[in-house]
Amino acid sequence: MSNDDQYPELDHTHAPFFDSLVNTQHRHPLSFHMPGHKFDPELLPELTDFFGAGVVTGDLNEALPPIDYLHAPTGTLIEAQRLAADAVGADHTFFLINGSTVGNQAMLMTVARDGQKVIVPRAAHRSVYAGLILSGATPIYVAPRYHPLVRFPLAVEADAVHARLIEHPDVVAIHVTSPNYYGYLSDVGALVELAHAHNIPLLVDEAHGAHLPFHPDLPRSAISLGADLVVQSPHKTLGALTQAAWLHLTGERVPLTTLQYLVAILQSSSPSVLFTGSLDVARRQAVLHGKELLDRTLELSQRARTAIRAIPGLWCYGEDLVGDYGIAAHDPTKLVIRVTDTGLTGKEFAAELWSRFTISVEFADLWQVICSITIADTAPRIDRLVDALRDIAQQHHGVATLRADRVELAPPPLPQLALNPRQATFRPARRVSIIEAAGEICAEQVIPYPPGIPLLMPGEVISAEMIEYVQYLLQQRIKIVGPEDLQLNTVRVITQ
Ligand SMILES: Cc1ncc(COP(=O)(O)O)c(C=O)c1O
Repeated sequence: MSNDDQYPELDHTHAPFFDSLVNTQHRHPLSFHMPGHKFDPELLPELTDFFGAGVVTGDLNEALPPIDYLHAPTGTLIEAQRLAADAVGADHTFFLINGSTVGNQAMLMTVARDGQKVIVPRAAHRSVYAGLILSGATPIYVAPRYHPLVRFPLAVEADAVHARLIEHPDVVAIHVTSPNYYGYLSDVGALVELAHAHNIPLLVDEAHGAHLPFHPDLPRSAISLGADLVVQSPHKTLGALTQAAWLHLTGERVPLTTLQYLVAILQSSSPSVLFTGSLDVARRQAVLHGKELLDRTLELSQRARTAIRAIPGLWCYGEDLVGDYGIAAHDPTKLVIRVTDTGLTGKEFAAELWSRFTISVEFADLWQVICSITIADTAPRIDRLVDALRDIAQQHHGVATLRADRVELAPPPLPQLALNPRQATFRPARRVSIIEAAGEICAEQVIPYPPGIPLLMPGEVISAEMIEYVQYLLQQRIKIVGPEDLQLNTVRVITQ
């Protein structure tokens, strides 16, 4: 029986899986199975004092007959995932309990293996790199084109992807990230056309865009633009709990059963209903009230942007960057606040926001502080943020000299790939002095942070130019993440 026959009515006022949790808990089950806490909130009082009793009493699982099982759903989870698919306009949705991280891994493993080529812009989240290792795919990178103001590649240009496709006609899929941390979107419609003209799927990491389907004034979600696989993190921009994400499939280009199998084997066999239950209610809220909640979010974001732009020493980017560098749209709920005219780096500014005002931000790089406004925000919260920004800017503007513009040297071109990430991960490696590493194949990641775009990945040839650049970054006190020796006096290379 198909899902359609089983659940003819799609009733978004329902949260079928969440309701099954509530109903079952009300029956006060006497449990002789895991979890070991047996739903007793007194067993670890410090836990329930902090999280509330529900974190234990509601920590139910499929050993209770009314509770469905994520990895073999037969009832309420089929319905809940189907409602989520319907909410965003996908054919199928999988609830994820390990964030968009596992979504990126599963989608790459589904479409590519053993050296098959996938186009991936270099500015990808580390879960995409993990997906390359797990799948064995060979990445065909799209070199980052740094935006001159924000100093990060804010979008992927369809022409650049097209050029890689022409060079590598045997590519089996394209994976892009849109929107990114900064809220900028690529022309996903053009990328869908490109991929489908080559009869390959387009995979989109839309981790930062779970709210997009729920308001007509927001940029269009990749799902509505025809992408084949789209992963979103409702825990980032909707109300779901941290780690709760979902993966959407549309069309026939990606095999449903393979995807289903991989999603299941990559995740815990004991999926927490805190995550899956939160997805069910987050979907219901987004469908029933998303438009009105996001009306407020958009209004608050606009109000914040206008106020920040009026503060001497600060600027808040938005629509002004759309139309260039491949940027097709901007999500106004992301405030990208340039702070360098205050003489502080983004990181220093963010540190002061925290130490003086206990305000924490989404992200900060050398030049900007990024704040995410969501359906949970209110006018007083926004006012508090704007007041704190103004206070810090006033204190520093015109006093300090510009320190953030210290990294002027552009990174060298992308390194040559000698082994793909999976091959390189499982080869023996040794440690050599960085000054003797030219010509060697790197065995570890070398990622300057910010901006978080890898300079070297396992399997890539280390050039003399790259060594010089890494040393330059370290002199500028830019943090490098990834290598075992964080000072990079030595680097791990493949034993050839
Ligand atoms: C672009 C992007 N993709 C994927 C992820 C992973 O998402 P999650 O935290 O839901 O695993 C992140 C996390 O920050 C991200 O920024």
